[in-house]
Amino acid sequence: MKMHSALSGRRIIVTGGPTREYLDPVRFISNASSGKMGAALVQAARNYSDDVMFIHGPVDTAVSEKITCTSIAVESNLEMLTAVRNNLKDGSIIIMSAAPVDYKPETFSSRKIKKTGSKLSFDFILNIDILKSVSDHIKKNNMKNMFICGFAAETDNFIENAMLKIKKKNMDMICLNDVTEPGSGFNTDTNRVTVISEDGNIHEIKMASKNAVADEILAIIDKKIGGANE
Ligand code: PMT
Repeated sequence: MKMHSALSGRRIIVTGGPTREYLDPVRFISNASSGKMGAALVQAARNYSDDVMFIHGPVDTAVSEKITCTSIAVESNLEMLTAVRNNLKDGSIIIMSAAPVDYKPETFSSRKIKKTGSKLSFDFILNIDILKSVSDHIKKNNMKNMFICGFAAETDNFIENAMLKIKKKNMDMICLNDVTEPGSGFNTDTNRVTVISEDGNIHEIKMASKNAVADEILAIIDKKIGGANE
């Protein structure tokens, strides 16, 4: 049974996992995101709404098998951005736990790059920022009652960097994880997260399973949206 809450009936879009940008048909640049945090957020979101959607990069079957909502599998940043943008509607809650690739190869070789010399160099260019593009799209189209929660994977200047990301990408809230801390961040079953609101309010979630952390994050979003509607 769904909890009756401010999130009932709202569309909740969760992104998770890595993206990939290809150098040639068989090689790509990516990262170690497993999609476990995204899958946990989907499970937590399902307690509040029937309208949950998971938009994810390549993840193991152990992760995708846990998904019991509409899901869209993508590879590149552009595909993830298009999937998120096409599914937005007024009142959407967007939770972006994906780890998109920030830089992509400047050129793509349609044929497999041959082993020739002992060294190989590539130029990389800035890739699409999905979250920033989504928040710009929401603003430009004057979409109503939207809520954006991002994640920040940091290794230093934690709060300062996360606050900069909130402002730059126009978020309502960010979940900061220290990806150097054992048991936290990429491809772990647990996480420790600091939730920071755009007004600077800080809430610590202790190290726990990604499912327990996701439950707390959803409870915080529910309280914030419920409070704003009172
Ligand atoms: O998938 P797991 O193995 O369970 O690991 C979970 C996680 C560590 C990937 C997750 O908890 C996490 O921290 N996700 C965010 C990773 C990241 O890209 O952080 P960032 O600080 O670089 O990005 C800030 C925000 O912008 C994020 O919401 C990210 O989804 C978004 N972003 C980043 C880069 C980019 N090009 N486009 C984006 O939309």
